[in-house]
Amino acid sequence: MARGKLILIEGLDRTGKSTQTEKLVKSLGDNALLVKFPERSTQIGGLIDQYLTNPEFLLPDQAIHLLFSANRWEIAESMKRSLLKGQHVVMDRYVYSGVAYSAAKDTKGMDLNWCLQPDKGLLKPDLTLFLTNSDSELRQGFGEERYECTDFQDKVRGQFAAIFDTLEDPDYKSKHIKFLDTTHKTIEEVHQLVRAVTSDYIQGHADVNEFIYF
Ligand code: TYD
Ligand code: MG
Repeated sequence: MARGKLILIEGLDRTGKSTQTEKLVKSLGDNALLVKFPERSTQIGGLIDQYLTNPEFLLPDQAIHLLFSANRWEIAESMKRSLLKGQHVVMDRYVYSGVAYSAAKDTKGMDLNWCLQPDKGLLKPDLTLFLTNSDSELRQGFGEERYECTDFQDKVRGQFAAIFDTLEDPDYKSKHIKFLDTTHKTIEEVHQLVRAVTSDYIQGHADVNEFIYF
């Protein structure tokens, strides 16, 4: 049996990732599973949630970085089992968010390469859809959590660009990463785009069974 595909929707805060991952999973039917990172319901996820929502909950930048990565590792095996059963797994954020948000802090020693190391060995997405939106700070709720301020988001945007331009393998990038500009598009229009790109990919790679790893 063919394994399922690992599909990632990435982007800055409030670019519509959660809405689009939910709609994509629904459109893929019974055969798809949604995984959101950070997964706040685990023990490690609970610490991450406190860090994000409580400004008085302090952790060194290195420690919170490793917790975000550990949160991916604690779910890695069950994701792989689902893929092997033929289920598609759709993720809302993953390794690229982990690297971009931490590197954007400009903490000494925490460059892109350092930030990627704890995620080495995790499954790499078959398809990444990177959503961009030039008016995302207007979205409802922006400003409630740590990291949701325009200055920091600009730095994160720069780090995402650096990851895709310098850190990611160009051959992998051209085959497995698609950039979608959602500015001035309705939720439904973006969904149709996401769906089209995803079904093209799934159909074009139906017989590919080996996994790719970070
Ligand atoms: P998320 O729950 O996706 O928030 P939202 O739904 O509001 O976009 O992510 C919370 C924050 O965590 C978000 O600002 C990005 C950040 N983050 C990291 O810093 N590192 C990571 O590894 C991940 C997955 C997210
Ligand atoms: Mg957020």
